[in-house]
Amino acid sequence: MKALITAGGHGTRLRPITHTQNKHLIPIANKPILSYALDYVKEAGIREVGIITNKDGSEVKDVYGDGRQMGLAITYIPQERPAGLADCVRIAEPFIGTEPFVFYLGDNIIVGGIKRFIDEFHSRKSHCHLVLARVPDPERFGVPEIRDNRIVRIEEKPEKPKSDYAVTGIYIYDSSIFDAVNSIKPSARGELEISDAHQYLIEKGLTVTYSEITGWWKDTGKPNDLLEANRLVLDNIQTNIVGNIDKDSHISGRVIIQEGCKIQNSNIRGPVIIGSGTRITNAYIGPYTSIERNCLIQDSEIEYSIVSEACKISDQKIRIEGSLLGKGVQIVRAKSKPFTNRFIVGDQSIVEIR
Ligand code: G1P
Repeated sequence: MKALITAGGHGTRLRPITHTQNKHLIPIANKPILSYALDYVKEAGIREVGIITNKDGSEVKDVYGDGRQMGLAITYIPQERPAGLADCVRIAEPFIGTEPFVFYLGDNIIVGGIKRFIDEFHSRKSHCHLVLARVPDPERFGVPEIRDNRIVRIEEKPEKPKSDYAVTGIYIYDSSIFDAVNSIKPSARGELEISDAHQYLIEKGLTVTYSEITGWWKDTGKPNDLLEANRLVLDNIQTNIVGNIDKDSHISGRVIIQEGCKIQNSNIRGPVIIGSGTRITNAYIGPYTSIERNCLIQDSEIEYSIVSEACKISDQKIRIEGSLLGKGVQIVRAKSKPFTNRFIVGDQSIVEIR
């Protein structure tokens, strides 16, 4: 079995972070979003992975290379233009060949891996196995109509959803999907929709089965959604403390503190992850915070936030919350008079101060 993972798109609603970084490389609990998909396919015993990128997919290639370091063999498949998910499958046929494969949308994060879905696909002799999740807003997704535990129809972003399930971004196919993606026509938005390919299989009478999951997150493109993904992942971490914590610090809840961290006179209330080489001094780090490597947090309080590598936060009088910081950001106090606020921020940054 092979895997096909999407990692293209422009992440326009996540600017400014996505001005300099592919959305799939944004860290969630100190790990790029795309690494979750790669880890899950590896854990399921898959070694050969195709990654669909934009025309110039160099950012993703720069991070994962040929995959050898992760114990994978990665092939990059550039998509000429964003022509839909079914088009991603269509252009990957030469890579996939005739064997079954997992199609995984690289911006989906789930809890618990994908092996159980692959087992279901095999044991139920499916042509297509879909992973469903109950959601409050099914109209944003592919939505199945289910009768007697069978999917009888699938619609893409329907105005009147026939169930409160979303088809998540994890699909397992045999090669009959290629007939589907080569037969369907572009939708009103000009894309080859993956839901239309699924509907094609249903109409052909092929076996389309499903599993249901609970812990699932889908990026809708707003920073808040990334914070929610971060919360979902941190909710499932196990405590692992390697760094150095002095006797004046207090740690509670589940925390990961990586090597070379120095925690001094601080209060860390998990779930929290702190990356290697980061220093926390006279600070409070509250629940659902991820801080990447080589940061400095000093005389400040922060919670429910994502802090990318090499950031500096110091002398903040008001607790920072619900924030998403790109790499090398500095939030510090002005040292000299006049006492003003001073901003050097990139395009489409958001600064909210009290
Ligand atoms: C795509 C699919 C949709 C699916 C969703 C899951 O939507 O078209 O059927 O439910 O991914 O992430 P899109 O991300 O294009 O809005």
